[in-house]
Amino acid sequence: MERRTLPGPDYYDPAILELEKENIFFKSWMLVGLAQQIPNPGDWFTFNIFDESVLISRGDDELIRAFYNVCTHRGSRLREEASGSEKHVFACPYHAWCFSLEGELVGTPRVAKEELDRSKWGLRPVHLEVWQGMIWINMDRETPMSLHDWMLDNNDTMLEFERFNIDQLHRTRISEWVVESNWKIVIENYSECLHCPTVHPELVKAVPIYKTGWVFEPGREDGGVNAVMGVEGPAGMGDVMLMPAVTADEAESVFGGSLFPNMFMDITGTNIVISQVVPLTSTTTRVQSWYMFHPDQLNSLGFDPTDIYAFNDLVTEQDNSVCVRAQHGATSRAYLDGGVYPEKDQFVLDFNENYLRHRDGK
Ligand code: FES
Ligand SMILES: [Fe+2]
Repeated sequence: MERRTLPGPDYYDPAILELEKENIFFKSWMLVGLAQQIPNPGDWFTFNIFDESVLISRGDDELIRAFYNVCTHRGSRLREEASGSEKHVFACPYHAWCFSLEGELVGTPRVAKEELDRSKWGLRPVHLEVWQGMIWINMDRETPMSLHDWMLDNNDTMLEFERFNIDQLHRTRISEWVVESNWKIVIENYSECLHCPTVHPELVKAVPIYKTGWVFEPGREDGGVNAVMGVEGPAGMGDVMLMPAVTADEAESVFGGSLFPNMFMDITGTNIVISQVVPLTSTTTRVQSWYMFHPDQLNSLGFDPTDIYAFNDLVTEQDNSVCVRAQHGATSRAYLDGGVYPEKDQFVLDFNENYLRHRDGK
């Protein structure tokens, strides 16, 4: 049987995006940031998606929590900034109601304490978990399955990456792009390498198997592919320290995986690039790459990740440009019924099937 792609309108119809909002983005575990962004009590950052904003903060008890970024008085957004730090309370800029870092309503200036049952008017919580130093939220109104079960249900490759002790790494850089394509095109493009020889001439030199369009190395069972060391590539050429917990084989390999719906991760011996994908509209997507290195590296003389940044940014920009091209074609009448997948597009098909399962409950 022919393997078919999604139909064209799935990539631009605003009605499809509405379905995705409710059935995917407001019901899935989504990567929003790193615990290291908010090391101290009172530190916070915001995560915005569609018309929602979530406040992620560390409490006086050191625990990380997430709340809707909405005051329970008259609905004012509590914080418009990307990040900040508070001393013990979030004070609303409108009428100065105060919420503890744990989300309780603790102050209502000019309104007597007896007038309201403050215990009912705390900040509205959002489900949150921390895994490997990464912060994940789930905006489901019901109690969702755990992040661990979500990974098992969607892609257990992520769990295998626990061996890299990602929580020990330090983020040194964020690269960000707004790509004029639907978010699914970004994930689909990540999920295949048939495009690698045409789009990524530099990458296929560093990872020869990618010349074939396959993403598996014959004879390897750990999911890794062999990297040629000493050429310009994702691991870098210079004297960059290996990550803790990397074996000799892994040091000369590349691993990758994605987790539905909005993240993927590329691992080499020296660094991990975590990518976060956030839809802005049905035809625009924000993509960030987070560069993670051994923390001792940062203080070591001669640490120069410039070539690693340049290489990965180059590959991402090559990807982004073909995503825009795919978007342009997907809106044609010629693509109303979509296209066709060969065998090497299997992971793209898997993503589509999982996507439909979540979107339509099938
Ligand atoms: S809306 Fe926040 S205190 Fe009134
Ligand atoms: Fe690519």
